[in-house]
Amino acid sequence: MTFRTRIAVLASGRGSNLQCLLDGIAAGQLDADIVGVFSDKPTAAALDKVPPERRWARTPREFGSRDAFDTALADAVAASMPDWIVCAGYMRILGAGFVQRFAGRLVNIHPSLLPRHKGLHTHARAIEAGDAEHGASVHFVVPELDAGTVIAQARVPVLPGDDADTLAARVLAVEHPLLLATVRLLVAGRVAEQDGWVRLDGQSLFNPLRLDSAGNLQS
Ligand code: GRF
Repeated sequence: MTFRTRIAVLASGRGSNLQCLLDGIAAGQLDADIVGVFSDKPTAAALDKVPPERRWARTPREFGSRDAFDTALADAVAASMPDWIVCAGYMRILGAGFVQRFAGRLVNIHPSLLPRHKGLHTHARAIEAGDAEHGASVHFVVPELDAGTVIAQARVPVLPGDDADTLAARVLAVEHPLLLATVRLLVAGRVAEQDGWVRLDGQSLFNPLRLDSAGNLQS
């Protein structure tokens, strides 16, 4: 009986990144199980992508405080006994207590080339800043927002005439292969966070891995 790597996913919306992990599993490209989808939005479409017994969603305002919600979320995530926790379109800031509880096995995909454009509205901000390139980053989560060490990135050009929607679509198209390729490395046990560095096969990564046009990660 082989035990496949257990992945918990946090999502707040449509779950296209979750879907790409599910597709990767179905295609035999990811030797893992999505053991739970956890959301702060009971209506999130992401929840519909897994069976009911693997869904957990609560409305934060049902809880007396942000910490109370985060604790309930953390308890639910812990109960699924995940090896990795992937934030994929999760739109609430995770409190320090949650982050510490899962430190070292908590990653997030963020639609910018971190450390540029932490936070929200990254596509509009990249255009406003006149960036020639934009993209997505998969990083370890630390208490400071979008500040954890970056494991891998995918780059896209910002084109003349782009608006936030056209740029967001171009970025989303590379987020999916980026997330799948990065989670494959996590599941293979090849990536760890140590002393604020990402290590790949034991070697510190001084620059994020880069997704190539074939969907592979290059160091
Ligand atoms: C994506 O751009 C992701 O980078 C961001 O949320 C957006 C929605 O992702 N965090 P999904 O389609 O819900 O996976």
